[in-house]
Amino acid sequence: MSNAITHILKNKGVHVEGNGPYSQIDNFTAETEVLHFLYSLVRLIKPLRILETGTYHGYSAIWMGQACRENRVGRIDSIEKDRDMVRIAQKNICKVGLDKQISLWHRDALDFAKLLGQFKLVEKYGLAFLDSDPALRLQEFNAFKPFMDTNAFFVFHDSHSQEVRDQLAKINNTAGWMDFPTGRGLAICQMSKF
Ligand SMILES: C[S@@+](CC[C@H](N)C(=O)[O-])C[C@H]1O[C@@H](n2cnc3c(N)ncnc32)[C@H](O)[C@@H]1O
Repeated sequence: MSNAITHILKNKGVHVEGNGPYSQIDNFTAETEVLHFLYSLVRLIKPLRILETGTYHGYSAIWMGQACRENRVGRIDSIEKDRDMVRIAQKNICKVGLDKQISLWHRDALDFAKLLGQFKLVEKYGLAFLDSDPALRLQEFNAFKPFMDTNAFFVFHDSHSQEVRDQLAKINNTAGWMDFPTGRGLAICQMSKF
């Protein structure tokens, strides 16, 4: 893990808060262990394009962006509807020099999916991390599915909340699911399973 990212973590005073043994930078950023998992997943599968819904302060994008930098390949489109969050994330991303790897989009995630329909995508996404409003997980999954690679991975945050659980149950053929017992829950499936 790069010193720059570790430095940000230290400045933020990572502490354990509300989710048992899981560390958090704050109540909105994914658990630190999830950030490490995303970093490792990107290092492992080396996607050319990554989609993230819900940038917040940019930490999950930064961890995946660092993995892209080390992979020497891969770019992230991170979508955030709140202008103030986009500004904060942009600053954090600049601080760690990951502007080349991460594009921030100030948009509603579902509107961004509509916009993608108008683009001619050369590369489809190899990985999507869905972490915006938990009420939108299923809608986002359906909206972004056409833009995913045949073997792409979907990672759903907050899979242990009843709201998200109910939505995931509506996705057909759940044979390929993995549901990790993290603080807030992290569920993964692969496109080829559908
Ligand atoms: C849990 S935070 C994301 C944390 C971030 N992924 C991380 O781990 O560093 C959720 C973010 O999603 C944003 N959000 C909520 N609804 C959205 C939508 N419809 N489209 C895009 N962003 C949205 C919120 O403004 C908030 O910043």
